[in-house]
Amino acid sequence: MEFENLLIKTENNITTISINRPKKLNALNIKTFEEIAKAVKLNVLNEKTKCIIITGVGDKAFIAGADIKEFIDYSASDAYDFSEKGNKFLFEVIENSTKPIIAMINGYALGGGLELAMACHIRVASEDSRMGLPEVSLGIIPGYGGTKRLPLLIGKGRAMEMIITGRMINAEEAKSFGLINYMVKKEKLTDFCGILANKIISNSPNAIKHAIKSLNSNYKEGFSNFSDEILNFSKCFDSDDFKEGTSAFIEKRKPNFN
Ligand code: CAA
Repeated sequence: MEFENLLIKTENNITTISINRPKKLNALNIKTFEEIAKAVKLNVLNEKTKCIIITGVGDKAFIAGADIKEFIDYSASDAYDFSEKGNKFLFEVIENSTKPIIAMINGYALGGGLELAMACHIRVASEDSRMGLPEVSLGIIPGYGGTKRLPLLIGKGRAMEMIITGRMINAEEAKSFGLINYMVKKEKLTDFCGILANKIISNSPNAIKHAIKSLNSNYKEGFSNFSDEILNFSKCFDSDDFKEGTSAFIEKRKPNFN
């Protein structure tokens, strides 16, 4: 199957899905978003695939977030749909995939990009990667599970600080927080993820599937209130801060919130 914004290859039962919009730092526009969802679903069903790796093309970014230019004119109700559908059709599909998914973070993982990595089962980042949820600088909040998955991975205090400062952390700090499983040298990233994927797929696929289901069921309770993130995310789109934050990004200047 042909994809406009993805490169996909399967070798030795490991499928690598690479987001291919390097000039836009692999930002997730709707087209790319739909293609990732389709590629993940197809590969979960494909007998040849036993493990999936998601990464970004180029040496600068994994994914720099949702495509800001696409949602700049959204109303609160558009934003509600965007967040609800995003969670349902991609982020929950990744998290509940019965085949293991590794996020191979090779640069910026911001906003929806870090949220996608957090929905994956394991995260490996190159030393030069930078991670963060900078949505508050745009006048909005994370809308793809960031306020839910980040505290689960790193604890409420650190998550609160990262989300309300919007600051980026480097790979070393991310490793010390438990946000990523491994930090490796950039030139070793692909090989390292290949070795990790091979280690996983040498085990029983059936047992892996049940392990993922069982582990995920520990957190169902915490996730039952995704709906409040969706609601709070959408409410931000009614504000002047959202207009100021997104305009400032487009105009490449600092936002001025009153
Ligand atoms: N959406 C749309 N375009 C983006 C983008 C994004 N998230 N991130 C980068 N780009 C585009 C830039 O607009 C620029 O395009 P042009 O050449 O056409 O101007 C191109 O990618 C290169 O980016 P920069 O020139 O900005 O590169 P830089 O090296 O100066 O800065 C950066 C890199 C710090 C990552 C900066 O691009 C940045 O801050 N990006 C936005 C990060 C962000 O706010 N992400 C959160 C998005 S909102 C979200 O994800 C909502 C959600 O939870 C659902």
